[in-house]
Amino acid sequence: TDAKNLAHMIQVAERVVVFTGAGISTESGIPDFRSPGGVWSKMKPIMFQDFVASRDARREAWTRVFNKTAGWTGAEPNAGHYAVAKLVEAGKVTSVITQNVDNLHQASGVPADKVIEVHGNASYAKCLQCGKRYEFEALRHRWEADEDITCMFCTGLVKSATISFGQAMPEAEMERATEEALLADLFLVLGSSLVVYPAAGLPVVAKKAGSRLAIVNREETDLDPYADLVLNTDIGPLMSAVMERL
Ligand code: OAD
Ligand code: ZN
Repeated sequence: TDAKNLAHMIQVAERVVVFTGAGISTESGIPDFRSPGGVWSKMKPIMFQDFVASRDARREAWTRVFNKTAGWTGAEPNAGHYAVAKLVEAGKVTSVITQNVDNLHQASGVPADKVIEVHGNASYAKCLQCGKRYEFEALRHRWEADEDITCMFCTGLVKSATISFGQAMPEAEMERATEEALLADLFLVLGSSLVVYPAAGLPVVAKKAGSRLAIVNREETDLDPYADLVLNTDIGPLMSAVMERL
């Protein structure tokens, strides 16, 4: 069965690296991006260059933050997140590389230093110039007053700490993620369409360096031909069944 095959691959591996996308969080009630009804079917992404260039684009971005347009604040980790957390605790999984910005791996108990967020985090904001961190609630009155939200220390633009299209990838995180991919002997993809690069290149980096590659996703992905195991199924139930076998 599916669970038996994946459990076996995990058992014989020494360094498992988990790579997650929005698909691991749908069972927590967070929509993914590209499925029917996904985020990008409801709104257009705000490009980084527009955020930097246009007051209106910034206003729209902040309105999405404060109106909770993503609609998932308060979401809780699900069985998939908890299975991954247990594998980290057991020392089987050395790190969790995530494209998600929902903070749910940390919330499920994975130590923060084992989570590599390659697309940032949507639960706080950061100055684009000096990197100073801001909590959203501390900025709310400035949005309500229709102010352009700039940094108190350097006057740089403050933006949600997610990586937008057109924005540079976080360098340190990409470096660490690449290193982990190179050292993995099993690279396990959970819930990503694998179409957004450079993040989607990481499974290929791992595979070329000799890792085995397993992909769990409801639908096919472009990287299925490179994979040693492809399971088209729901992550939560599958990972629960895998954990029972380990
Ligand atoms: P996508 O929405 O592109 O892909 C999620 C995949 O998960 C889809 O192929 C679904 O079929 C699958 N899926 C959904 N629920 C599942 C479940 N319960 N079990 C198994 N599979 C499931 O999301 P990502 O690949 O994460 O970037 O998207 C990559 C990046 O594109 C995101 O990080 C985001 C987006 O634009 C930024 O915001 C920079
Ligand atoms: Zn600043």
